[in-house]
Amino acid sequence: MSHVLTTKQFTKADAERILARAKDMELQCSTGTVDKLLKDKIVACIFFEPSTRTRLSFETAALRLGAQVISAEDAAGNSSAYKGETIKDTARILSCYADAIVMRHYLPGAAEALASAASKPVVNAGDGAHEHPSQGLLDLYTIKKEHGRLENLTVAFVGDLKNSRTLHSLLPLMVQYPGNIFYFVSPKELRVAPEQLADLTAKGVKFIESENLDEVLPKADVLYMTRVQKERFENEADYDKVKDAFLLVKSDLDQMKPDAIIMHPLPRINEVDHAIDTDKRAAYFRQAQNGLYVRMALLLYVFGL
Ligand code: NCD
Repeated sequence: MSHVLTTKQFTKADAERILARAKDMELQCSTGTVDKLLKDKIVACIFFEPSTRTRLSFETAALRLGAQVISAEDAAGNSSAYKGETIKDTARILSCYADAIVMRHYLPGAAEALASAASKPVVNAGDGAHEHPSQGLLDLYTIKKEHGRLENLTVAFVGDLKNSRTLHSLLPLMVQYPGNIFYFVSPKELRVAPEQLADLTAKGVKFIESENLDEVLPKADVLYMTRVQKERFENEADYDKVKDAFLLVKSDLDQMKPDAIIMHPLPRINEVDHAIDTDKRAAYFRQAQNGLYVRMALLLYVFGL
């Protein structure tokens, strides 16, 4: 039994095994012949924060593999957490019913707390601004599929780099590949945390911080847009100041490489104009679809299958 709590738990070889498995899942889905390897398993999905893609793709992944799903989709208001039950007690209870637990929570470290008390494997589906490992892996899968490689790429992250848990999970995976250069484009208030930057410097990773999207557009092989994470702000005024910091519009595409890809974990609010959707470089819907295959691979991984 293995948990999935952070992408830092994966070596390059581990991550590549998961990507290879996801590719197999994609093939099996496309031919309608998915091996029901999780027959007789029950997967619990308990979400203390809103979700569309993550929860529904995990549930679809479980169902496609023959598992059954029990789901608490508004656990903050509707589970016993509302009455004050601790995460650890929730872990003990879910372990009595389900064979694996997929949890999203607003507190950083919640998935680790759950795993420490659960007797079943736990998948972190996002814990506050900390990590979102299944998203990091599906992003890695998307970059590999779109570009055919994971090294020698210029990757520009744009937006709320302080609070984006998807950045926090993708970056540790991407820095394992040689020759990658990272641009971090954000307003001052939403910069990557200084300790994360220090860690990159210590590892010899090449990165450049910027507040200017225009100077980065012509360089990016991967343009990774992020939503300003409203729910992490202490007050509305601070959010209002930065909420519309970077919006990618159709005319920006002229400055971009013809084979660049535009990614976004979604939901988009005011970061990517809808007029861009029909451009072949807009990869965000393909990215969301890849989430299904990667989550199928991750469920197999936690069961040791
Ligand atoms: C992301 C998340 O929840 O962190 N969404 C997702 O899972 N695809 C990104 C976001 O909410 O901005």
